[in-house]
Amino acid sequence: MTATILSGKELATKKREQLKLEVERLKAEGVSPKLVIILVGNDPASISYIKGKQKASEETGVDFHLDHLPESTSEEELVKLIEHYNEKEDVDGILVQLPLPDHINEKTVIETISPEKDVDGFHPINVGRMLTGQEAFLPCTPAGIVEMIKAADIELAGKHVVVVGRSNIVGKPVGQLLLNENATVTYCHSKTGDLKKFTSEADVLIVAVGRANMITSEHIKDGAVVIDVGVNRLETGKLVGDVAFDEAINKASVITPVPGGVGPMTITMLVSNTVISAKKRLS
Ligand code: GUN
Repeated sequence: MTATILSGKELATKKREQLKLEVERLKAEGVSPKLVIILVGNDPASISYIKGKQKASEETGVDFHLDHLPESTSEEELVKLIEHYNEKEDVDGILVQLPLPDHINEKTVIETISPEKDVDGFHPINVGRMLTGQEAFLPCTPAGIVEMIKAADIELAGKHVVVVGRSNIVGKPVGQLLLNENATVTYCHSKTGDLKKFTSEADVLIVAVGRANMITSEHIKDGAVVIDVGVNRLETGKLVGDVAFDEAINKASVITPVPGGVGPMTITMLVSNTVISAKKRLS
């Protein structure tokens, strides 16, 4: 069997075209969606991610503003800046790029962002709303994964989903979103004894660990759907996921590539959340 490649890039392109039309409609009604990103320091990966977010915003007509602050910025200064944007009516989404320098408490910062502008979906209020199936800003990577699975007409109800990784940004919330879709969800992590035992039972395998090639064909059930969230840079400079793609493609029925898989959808969902937030200005 050779798996079908589930392209996040293609779906992201389609979704951005739809978002562009929605932004045009909003602008015609006097609402110009605006996203503010705050970056503290000069982490190269963060700078690269932000470029992608800026490009997606510009493509869809969303106003994009970046505050690039020095590494020495204090927590108090950052909190004040967030509070300033919380109050500004023309700002629909606020995102503080992570990781933050060690002297700034990430929890304090996330909890300062107004839940109504938390387009990352990281605020505990949004996490709680998501968990209980209420309307919430959904975290972008998990929401993008669910959209990709649905766009490919893959049934989730009653399916066994195995999530490898338990980060607050991806692993934990993607399992919860898929539970909300009536899947049976198993979480695996660094302390899981026999990883293969669980992964090889998965109808849908989601891997979000950040270790190149940690999932090989032996971990995958014949015909499984494999979603690779990993982004790892090899010494050669090549970008790869957490799944050994060349062998997994012969075992899975559907697989996401890296690059061009989950990544473009993550960014698109951020724009989507900003547009959802902007629409609330009309109600
Ligand atoms: N750093 C890596 N991924 C993310 C993300 O999705 N949001 C924020 N704010 N920071 C990140």
